[in-house]
Amino acid sequence: MTQFASSTPTSGVSRFPSKPLPPRAGAGLKTGHIDAILADDYRIGFLEVHAENYMGDGGPAHRALAAIRAEFPLSVHGVGLSIGSRTGLDPDHLDRLARVVERYEPGMVSEHLAWSSHDAGYFNDLLPLPYDQATLDLVAGHIGRVQDRLKRPILLENPSTYVAFEQSTMSETDFIREVARKSGCGLLLDINNVFVSATNHGWKPLQYLRDFPLELVEEIHLAGHAEDTDDEGDLLLIDAHDRPVADPVWKLYEIVISQAGPLPTLIEWDNDVPEWPVLRHEAKLAEAILDRLGPASMLGSRHAAE
Ligand SMILES: [Fe+2]
Repeated sequence: MTQFASSTPTSGVSRFPSKPLPPRAGAGLKTGHIDAILADDYRIGFLEVHAENYMGDGGPAHRALAAIRAEFPLSVHGVGLSIGSRTGLDPDHLDRLARVVERYEPGMVSEHLAWSSHDAGYFNDLLPLPYDQATLDLVAGHIGRVQDRLKRPILLENPSTYVAFEQSTMSETDFIREVARKSGCGLLLDINNVFVSATNHGWKPLQYLRDFPLELVEEIHLAGHAEDTDDEGDLLLIDAHDRPVADPVWKLYEIVISQAGPLPTLIEWDNDVPEWPVLRHEAKLAEAILDRLGPASMLGSRHAAE
């Protein structure tokens, strides 16, 4: 396992002021919101972009992101690296990710525990993995390679899933803990993903959170989900990112913050994106919870997760 001294770039001349992600609420950056964000008296805690949207060389998108990066902490979230691919990482995609990271010097870099490519085939989905030793070795090895290329640790995000594999030999939380131990990566806890997967598979979300290595979490995601039904007519939740965060997810978030302390928390809203004030409102709800419960947890006053 390669050890990294810090999450900041280790070489080259910095183009931007150093801005690690603060333990505040942030929002996913949408192009249509950039002017409103820059003009807003309320300074959002940080902004997060999908790396794949900035893998081209130039143009207005890069000029706008440079303006945002000059003023705000930034995190880069990859959605296409296919960390769990059986046919290996795409070296060209990894090079493109490295260029985005070198260019913007983000406070955090994260990717998903999922796969989305096989040989030359690419899928527009984050697909689930079996939780067994072979997959664990594969994923940890890929993360090691990514971290070596980026010269910094990354965060791995827990997935939202709709199917489970009979060949799995360990729980998702044990799998994630062991991947982090082997690779040295940190974790991104998506609490909406926990709620979606728990509902779809019949797990208890609080038990999942009790088993999750919260001490390794460096960022949280919150998002809205849609309700559907499966072929048997049972409730099926879809990680839709198209609406406000649901009440049960806010409750789980309160429990996590009361136990783990204040953590950078991102509001994800990627479909049917509303005007900026709606995202800002969601971010302020998260920030109020961080202010109310985060400091108490730092003093050792913890909620019991039941
Ligand atoms: Fe997420």
